[in-house]
Amino acid sequence: MCGIVGYVGPREAVPILIEGLRRLEYRGYDSAGVSVIGPDGAVNSRKRSGKLDELAGAIDAQPLSGRCGIGHTRWATHGAPTEANAHPHLSADETISLVHNGIIENAGALRKMLEGEGVNFRSETDTEVVVHLIDRLWEEGRPLEEAVAAALEQVIGAYGIAVMSSRDPEKIVVARNGSPLLLGVGRRGEMLVGSDAAAVVAHTREVVYLDDGDYAVLTPDGYRTYHLRQGPVSRKVHEVTWDLAAIEKGGYEHFMLKEIFEQPRTLEDVMRGRLLEEEGSARLGGITIDDRELLQIRRIVITACGTSWHSALIGEYMLEELARIPTKVEYASEFRYKNPVIDEHTLVIVISQSGETADTLAALREAKRRGARVMGIVNVVGSTIARETDFGVYLHAGPEIGVASTKAFTSQVAALALFTLYLARRRSLSILEGRRIVKALQELPGQVAEILEQNDAIRELAARYRDAPNFLYLGRGYQFPVALEGALKLKEVSYIHAEGYPAAEMKHGPIALIDEKMPVVFLAPKDGVYHKVVSNIEEVKARQGQVIAVVNDGRDELAGKVDHFLTVPETHPALLPILTSVPLQLLAYHVALLRGCDVDQPRNLAKSVTVE
Ligand code: AGP
Repeated sequence: MCGIVGYVGPREAVPILIEGLRRLEYRGYDSAGVSVIGPDGAVNSRKRSGKLDELAGAIDAQPLSGRCGIGHTRWATHGAPTEANAHPHLSADETISLVHNGIIENAGALRKMLEGEGVNFRSETDTEVVVHLIDRLWEEGRPLEEAVAAALEQVIGAYGIAVMSSRDPEKIVVARNGSPLLLGVGRRGEMLVGSDAAAVVAHTREVVYLDDGDYAVLTPDGYRTYHLRQGPVSRKVHEVTWDLAAIEKGGYEHFMLKEIFEQPRTLEDVMRGRLLEEEGSARLGGITIDDRELLQIRRIVITACGTSWHSALIGEYMLEELARIPTKVEYASEFRYKNPVIDEHTLVIVISQSGETADTLAALREAKRRGARVMGIVNVVGSTIARETDFGVYLHAGPEIGVASTKAFTSQVAALALFTLYLARRRSLSILEGRRIVKALQELPGQVAEILEQNDAIRELAARYRDAPNFLYLGRGYQFPVALEGALKLKEVSYIHAEGYPAAEMKHGPIALIDEKMPVVFLAPKDGVYHKVVSNIEEVKARQGQVIAVVNDGRDELAGKVDHFLTVPETHPALLPILTSVPLQLLAYHVALLRGCDVDQPRNLAKSVTVE
């Protein structure tokens, strides 16, 4: 996934572009570039591979000036992260400049056609075909937007693009199909464009989300929106509800650490106004289908990717145990290509922090095509997934900048608990059990704050295992998805190979890996399967494995069997994942830091994967 930013107005564009790219760098960071229409009326560009600092340094050394510009930070899909493949890409005569996020699926055919017409390509990217197409289709004397629209008629695939030209200056044409793009409506005769609100919120809170098939023309006088097939359209102006501080580090060394420590507040925020103590239930304003229709739901499918898939697994256990509804979790990338059994009595829940993950969006659309009602559990307000679901629950966790998802995960689990309560109390869950769960939910923020006090001890523990080549994470029941999540956190930020497994499955293979060099993290809170996990711990110790155990209280039969305890308070078994995942977030963070890894921007990763 890449980051796009654009500015047109009375101010120098380059500082605004660079600042916007910094706020988008979490989306992709293997190369970056900007173009401006200079005082000489020409398109002037600068591109560098590597982090944004490389580009900023090059511009400091050789400044660029102009009041209309576009910028891009890249997560490579087609073509290595080289300077030649960095965006912006230019037409042959360098009068048109374009940046793109997405994948042009018919790039090969278009490239062949254009090369046959004598176009010389400078890069290996799919993007470059679009700028040459615009150049070839631009009729003399017609505006840039007509050439862009004509070119996009020939493009198949996902795109968010921003285009400008010295042949039609003081104008940026933007378009989206499948990759997020929004307009920032400035006040001082200026307009901005960004891949998400983080790129523009320093200048305006008024944003316009473009829909698939939309394109727009931005000038210092304002903007006009069109749809490729419908012509002129109007799109609603939304107010961004968070401010710049929400996307700053707030004194923390990394966004990941800040977001781990935000969890007491984000858990309060996801539950705010949604707990019904007396009824032992939940109030979810975003669930707009009525009870009668809800009670006709016979089956639930939850689909997501990565960490969101892990929270989905916890949701499966909750919904089946407490709401007694058959529930199945599917990887979004698998769901969309199998022939799923979906009908009008199936509720499909899509979970996505960013609301832009391509596989999850595609699964959502496949479920709707088959007649399912689709509910979203999403963090980013106004994101594509949020806008395409039939109804949903926002996390209200604020922007999550660290690539490794932490606060969104615990808020997703809390949102699933709220929805389970909402459903279960309309079915078979007793009011007393409902009240018990509500009380347990209310205690979570304070309990997480208590766990965070172990940060220093966890840093010391991380130092002991920073060079381990492998880790094994084991859990049962509600704790099995936590084992998966703990392993994902470690591997994606520290690059250590880590595997999560159902604890009972260890003896069916993974136990062969156990020796004195293998750290094994056990999730062993006092739930219904605790004593089974104690047996698994003894099996590992009998083979000299190093055992780190996340427990409620280690001063019992585990004493002498575990090398390191991480303690969490007790709570309802369905909510324990919210507590047991927090020490594992900190463990992953500190191990990665000690290994000198880029915690907020791990290699090869991007915050939201908007390509398939
Ligand atoms: C989690 O730490 C990873 N960054 C990744 O697995 C992520 O959860 C996945 O890409 C799904 O993203 P989404 O929740 O924004 O859809």
